[in-house]
This record gives sequence, structure tokens and C-alpha cells, in this order.
Amino acid sequence: MIHTLSSDAFAGALRAPKVSGVSPLFRAKIRVNGQSVRCYVKPLPDLIECPATRRPVDNQEIINEALGYVLAEACDCRVPEVAGVILLEREKIPQQVVEKLKQVGAGPLQQNYLCWFSQDMNHPNLVQKHMGGINLDFLQQRRLKRLVKHLIEAPDTPKVIAFDDWLFNSDRHPGNLLASTPELTLIDHGRILIYPNWRPGKLGACGPGYTPSNRLRNFIDTHEPNWSAKLPKKSEMIMAYNAFAVSFRDRGEAAARTVLAEFFDALDIDAIIQLLQSRHDPAAYAKASGMFI
Ligand SMILES: Nc1ncnc2c1ncn2[C@@H]1O[C@H](COP(=O)(O)OP(=O)(O)OP(=O)(O)O)[C@@H](O)[C@H]1O
Ligand SMILES: [Mg+2]
Repeated sequence: MIHTLSSDAFAGALRAPKVSGVSPLFRAKIRVNGQSVRCYVKPLPDLIECPATRRPVDNQEIINEALGYVLAEACDCRVPEVAGVILLEREKIPQQVVEKLKQVGAGPLQQNYLCWFSQDMNHPNLVQKHMGGINLDFLQQRRLKRLVKHLIEAPDTPKVIAFDDWLFNSDRHPGNLLASTPELTLIDHGRILIYPNWRPGKLGACGPGYTPSNRLRNFIDTHEPNWSAKLPKKSEMIMAYNAFAVSFRDRGEAAARTVLAEFFDALDIDAIIQLLQSRHDPAAYAKASGMFI
């Protein structure tokens, strides 16, 4: 479940994050159900430039974050304990972050921003954990091996890959997984449905030359050839994928509909739900992944 909050719940910015990705991001305290929670906060502009047409289009990233979160939760993947959407006036956002917002949005600076927030889980991401603070080439190779080993040994890696296959997540690099144990914590679902320029019932598009693929599977296979094609990982992915259909029917669909109701009308919601369901054919999944059962 996610929280939808107004700016009254904002209790002040905290020290800037040690690492940040491409998005403007800051840390802040947010009051949720009477508790002050330390969070990562990602303000998202209403418009982005479509990489395919170079025109401004609606930015669906806040919906991606919310949908990815509730679906991961419904599929028993670990996610930050508290998360949601908060509407913040620009004055509440630290100045350096506003500067970055100027660069990523396709329109003028806004008075208010819808922000995705998630509780700071205090775990480093996998890149931070294994690659942080080194600049010697030979050490880098060793650390990279350690990072790949971590992913190979984490029990839920096949499930995370299958989850991203289902939702067409084009951005699950190891920086989007937190190094919690025994399960990894999934963060950053900003690029499910390929890219946040999707419209109801239709996948997004990254532009010419992009072929949809699973970044995490590719990353592991590059360093450990054929990892994903071997048993038992291959069957673990298929089994996890099959279980998503059941979780979606039992819990995920209702959670997704609640999130979508904040943004779309009934027809559009049905189109999005159908798109998610249409990908639940296990035989098609096995075939598409070159995994014959
Ligand atoms: N809830 C959280 N708990 C702990 N760390 C977090 C959390 N949310 C974000 N982070 C940290 O902040 C970093 C950037 O956050 P996030 O991945 O959401 O931003 P991004 O800029 O969209 O990333 P990308 O570069 O993958 O597009 C993460 O890699 C992670 O280290
Ligand atoms: Mg990220």
C-alpha cells in the first residue's frame, strides 16, 4: 500500500544523499501516520521530452514508481517499508535539486511537484556496496566479480528478473537493488512499461535503436556466460513468473487499480490492467526468454 500525502506532511529536508542517479533526489523527513519517517524523495516534472519524437509528453514516472511498488509488494518482493506520493511546493525542494529539475523536465519550472518518496532503508545499493570508493583498475575487476557473485547467490535474483520481464522494466541495473539480506530490496520502478512516455494500453518507447531487454539478466550473463540459461535458475524464473499471475489476481490487480484511480478514468484503467494481464501467458514467457519447458 502507498500513502498519498499533501505538503503538510513534509517535515524538512535532511542531508543530501551520498549517491544519486540521473534523477533529482533529496532526503527528507515525512510524517506518515503520526510517525516521522526518513525518506528519499524524487520530485517528478509533469512533462518530459519523448526520446522517440523529441516532443514534450506527459511524464508517467510517478505512476510507474507507485505501480511498480504495489505490484512488487503483491508479488512478495521486498520493497521499502513506507512509500508513496507527496505533492510539494517548489519552495520546499532544496535549491540544488530545483536546478537539476530545470534540466530534466520538458516544461518551465512548476509551482508544485508530485514526488515519489520511499523510506530510507539504510542499505547501500549493490554498486555502492561493491564498487564504492575504488579507482584502481585491477581492484575494479575483482569488485565487479564480487558484485556478480552477490547477484548469483542472492536467492531472489531469478524472481527479480522475472518481475522486470513481466513489467518491461528497462532500468534494473544493480544500483536499483539495495543490499539487504536475505532478500534484495527493490527500488526505482521509474522505467517499467519501457519508458514513462507510455499511454494507457500501450507500452512506452525509448526511441530508435532500442530493443527491449532485461538489464539485470544481461549484466549477469555478460560476466557469467549462460547463467540465466542454466538450471535451476531458468526454472526459478519461470516458476516466479507463473506465480505473478496468481498474486496479480489475488492482490495485485486491486492494488494497481487503487493507484491508477488517482490518475486515470475507468476506461484507461481497464486498458492498463489488460496490458499487465496480457503478459501472463507462461508458455509465451518461456518461449520469449528462449527457455523451453
Ligand atoms: N528507499 C531507499 N532506501 C535507501 N536508499 C535509497 C532509497 N531510494 C533511493 N535510494 C538510493 O538513491 C539512489 C538513487 O535513487 P533512484 O534509483 O530512485 O534514482 P534514479 O536517479 O531514478 O536512478 P537511476 O540512475 O537508476 O535512474 C539509489 O541507487 C539508492 O542508492
Ligand atoms: Mg535508480
